[in-house]
Amino acid sequence: MNTRAGPTTATRHLARVATPAALLALSGCSGTAPSALDPAGAGAGRVAGLWWVLFWLSMAVFAEVMVVLAWALVFRRRPGAKVRHGQPLRFVTVAGAGVPLVILVTVYALGLCDLAALGDGPGPRATTVEVTGHKWWWEVRVAGVSGATANELHIPVGEKVRIRLRTADVLHSFWVPQLMPKTDLIAGEVRETWLHAERAGSYRGQCAEYCGTQHAHMAFLVVAEPRRDFDAWVTRLGAPAAAPRTDAQRRGQQAFVQGTCAGCHAIRGTGADGRIGPDLSDVGARWSIGAGAVPNDGGHLGGWIANSQTVKPGNYMPPQPVDAQRLPDLIAYLRSLT
Ligand code: CUA
Repeated sequence: MNTRAGPTTATRHLARVATPAALLALSGCSGTAPSALDPAGAGAGRVAGLWWVLFWLSMAVFAEVMVVLAWALVFRRRPGAKVRHGQPLRFVTVAGAGVPLVILVTVYALGLCDLAALGDGPGPRATTVEVTGHKWWWEVRVAGVSGATANELHIPVGEKVRIRLRTADVLHSFWVPQLMPKTDLIAGEVRETWLHAERAGSYRGQCAEYCGTQHAHMAFLVVAEPRRDFDAWVTRLGAPAAAPRTDAQRRGQQAFVQGTCAGCHAIRGTGADGRIGPDLSDVGARWSIGAGAVPNDGGHLGGWIANSQTVKPGNYMPPQPVDAQRLPDLIAYLRSLT
């Protein structure tokens, strides 16, 4: 007998059959691609529930059709057999019209129930987070708070939060697969949706309406956290950015405020008050650079500042003529803004 433990013929066969099935099943739940079938909140839960109802109904109908097909093949009329009248008509009426009617009416009713549940937003006293879509990033504010951040919004766990949506340019679509179905952002309109998370965690969102070259890099993060952490986030949004603590950071701040950066970007509590690009008051704490384009670390930040076109081609930040000696200072300052 072979001393090495090897798979038997049976297990090899099982693996051949099971691997494609497992891959198919896993394709919907990898860590980086959130699935609407892995809901973490009330809104996505309704949609996932309806999805499974439709899935199993489709499976039942498919099985029924296969049974009828097999039956027809086995009991097909032999040449010269007598034709019986009456029965086929009754069968066609029940299986071809009656059953589909019941299924469609049921699905329609379930859809209406879910629609009503999704329309049942937070009360008037709930926190409102204001999100504006830009090509290709998300501006995030909290109603009644002066500051802004980008591509990341926080919500308190277990509470419904109103999300007010606008677009600064073209159509975008706000989608957090694990929390809520899509809501389109339409020029000239203010749309509303809400978010609710049952458990703390980070949930990835994505623009779901093609909006130009960098549509794919228009991602964001929803951080669901305990109420006190959420309140602290709101407080930070209204407060000035962290002051520089080292000489390099101080030089970086000076370069930022006096250079071209301040023409497009704001940092609260400094002279930088640009409104074209994202507010950078907490840029050091963000999960990514360029709305999901690259990780947020010193190297990528430097590359982005020098020439973001190599990182996210087509975005609206032109290459910056930054003095090679100033670049490390700028990076040190921006990294300190947490
Ligand atoms: Cu914004 Cu796609």
